[in-house]
Amino acid sequence: MKKFTSVSDVENLQQIIKKALQIKENPLSEPEKGKGKTIGLVFLNSSLRTRLSSQIAAQNLGLNVLTLNAAQEAWNLEFTDGALMNGDTVEHIKDAIEVLNQYCDIIAVRCFAGMKSKEDDVNESILSQFEQHAKVPVISLESATRHPLQSLADCITITENWYFDGSSSSPQAKLSINRKPKVVLTWAPHIKPIAHAVGNSFAEWMQEMDVDFVIANPEGYDLDKNFTKNVKIIHDQEEALKDADFIYVKNWSSFDDYAKMPEVKDNWMLTNEKLENTNQAKVMHCLPVRRNVELSDEVMDGENSIIYQQAKNRIFSAQAVFSEILDELNA
Ligand code: CP
Repeated sequence: MKKFTSVSDVENLQQIIKKALQIKENPLSEPEKGKGKTIGLVFLNSSLRTRLSSQIAAQNLGLNVLTLNAAQEAWNLEFTDGALMNGDTVEHIKDAIEVLNQYCDIIAVRCFAGMKSKEDDVNESILSQFEQHAKVPVISLESATRHPLQSLADCITITENWYFDGSSSSPQAKLSINRKPKVVLTWAPHIKPIAHAVGNSFAEWMQEMDVDFVIANPEGYDLDKNFTKNVKIIHDQEEALKDADFIYVKNWSSFDDYAKMPEVKDNWMLTNEKLENTNQAKVMHCLPVRRNVELSDEVMDGENSIIYQQAKNRIFSAQAVFSEILDELNA
């Protein structure tokens, strides 16, 4: 693997899921693979899971880890090409990336959507600068339009819960289920406009999985067609959740009326009552979650939730990707 910014960088999805599940069984199976190499984790935005799971994954592979919380700890960055830097910005992103090239063998970056310019966000105005100026492999830790390490963790979580017993990746534990799971990505309420990256990315990855996938969201909240393609979009949550095996809860703002929050009359928060209509669906959320806004306490803390398992799988998703990037570097 030469870089990892979307599902298109994965040659064989089933193979990398299998690899991640093997890593989960034995996380220290390749302790020397990253020896003498450094990964730079650059965060332009906040993080709990991505930062810590990436650090654990890198350490399990023997990589040196540099973590830069750029928004708080670095100089105020300028992103515009040709800018006259006589204002608040102190260092151009091009120069920062060139310096990272001197220190790192892999650069991983988190750069959220700015949510001000649709064009900038759709065109990945920051990630594209990393891709352009980095001389080492680039990994996305969530960009304006995608969150691929999260999506891989989501695929791992669905696989182990559907095809295995939910706790083991051993082939002996394989369950004899001979139908595809129904996976529903459902929009949830929020108090402020949220970016599309997780929803887009989940939609993209589910289309590569052997699942029946539908999206439920209110009118005015359809995701970018470039990501949803021909996926069925249902504007009635109750109808969409019927017989679901997995429900992925996530908020996003309007894409058409960019970053706005059109009024929603129905209550889209996921509750235990709504789970009654499903096939005892497992509930997923990438976290952080606003309890009793996106989903109720009873769902979050209930037996259908696999949300903490999903968060744990962020380690194995990251480790599988770092390991494949190291294969390329060590070749
Ligand atoms: N799911 C996720 O990416 O969590 P963080 O934003 O805390 O990294």
